[in-house]
Amino acid sequence: MINSKLSVKIETKDAKLSNELESMVIAGGGLRIVGSEGKESPDLLIFELSENFNEEFKTLQSLLTSNTVGEIFLTAKTKDTDLLLKAFKTGAKAFFFQPIDPEEVREALESFKARADQAQHPVINARHTKGEVIHVMGAKGGVGTTTIAVNLASILAGKKDGNSVALVDLNTVFGEVPLFLSLKPVYHWGEIVKNIQRLDATFLMNILTLHSSGVHILPSPGYLNGHPPATPEIMGNLLDLMRKNFDYVVIDGGQSLDKASLKSIEMSTQVLMVSLLSLPCLANTNKLIRSLSSQGLAQKDRVKIIINRYMKNSDISLEEAKNSINNDIFWEIPNDFNTTMSAINQGKALNDISPKAPITRNLIELAESLSGSPAIDERKKKKGKGFFSFR
Ligand SMILES: Nc1ncnc2c1ncn2[C@@H]1O[C@H](COP(=O)(O)OP(=O)(O)O)[C@@H](O)[C@H]1O
Ligand SMILES: [Mg+2]
Repeated sequence: MINSKLSVKIETKDAKLSNELESMVIAGGGLRIVGSEGKESPDLLIFELSENFNEEFKTLQSLLTSNTVGEIFLTAKTKDTDLLLKAFKTGAKAFFFQPIDPEEVREALESFKARADQAQHPVINARHTKGEVIHVMGAKGGVGTTTIAVNLASILAGKKDGNSVALVDLNTVFGEVPLFLSLKPVYHWGEIVKNIQRLDATFLMNILTLHSSGVHILPSPGYLNGHPPATPEIMGNLLDLMRKNFDYVVIDGGQSLDKASLKSIEMSTQVLMVSLLSLPCLANTNKLIRSLSSQGLAQKDRVKIIINRYMKNSDISLEEAKNSINNDIFWEIPNDFNTTMSAINQGKALNDISPKAPITRNLIELAESLSGSPAIDERKKKKGKGFFSFR
């Protein structure tokens, strides 16, 4: 490395403010000033906005997007909260109203140095997490993929051992996670795709919406708005960062088998393939398993078949289903249209509206089984499969 000190460029409208900021930057150590004429891309740009801030925001955003600057701090004479909001939407990491408070600047510079340090040593600094990635996918639309993903995430987050949980919706345009949880998220997937070079733990946490269940949500774009699709590389980077920051990352993968979804399936510790006891669903399950198998992704200990809406008296028995897909069935979830529909219509998790309902208790058991709770393993040994064994 030519110079281990992080570089800071200061662009203000008057020299006095520039000198003031310069001495604050130097005082903290570990940073060096680069001249405003220099061609070097600074790690940090401290920029003073003028009256013409809308144009300036556009330029600043493109500086960030093109990686011409690492981070941006802003300052302005006007005390306007709207301006502040715009500044943070643009991606500014700090905003100083004038007259500048030296303590505020000092704190922002220290955080900047800490972030840069974390980016250089991500593994050393990463919190120790379980890092489980659970990809939930459906053999068909409407089989209950979103119901299972949303409720699993909220149950895992509600467990006493304080797991950190994130829920990612991969269903572009048709993502329903926010509806299931009555959320109006500000950001979605598209933000990550557009700003992938800025993706670090801080950026990620700013984009996720925290639901009252404790689950951090990353929804999908609600409509096509010129967002480029997620590539396998982007998915790889995102999931890698997420598993370093969360104990469980649950993915509502819908029916997608595009390249980004295949990457998510590849990186998952468990893949839940949701199916029903119906001929078309079982035929699709067969096709899905074969497709995953052709990509080397169908390991039996990882890909688990879940039969949703299970009814004891169904025309097709579990044994017949098992034979037809040539795979074990890992779990059955009972049929309960009223409770699931009522949860969806209220925008709440099953645990919140009907904690005692058999379907909720079944999903709690599923969560425990997936998270390797010793209690459930013991019970399984004694009783077969969970409380709600329908065989
Ligand atoms: N175990 C279940 N019993 C009865 N109905 C269910 C069950 N799971 C989901 N559903 C219903 O199926 C419908 C589709 O569920 P959803 O989770 O949106 O499926 P997907 O995400 O696969 O399209 C919803 O109306 C939901 O209430
Ligand atoms: Mg869905």
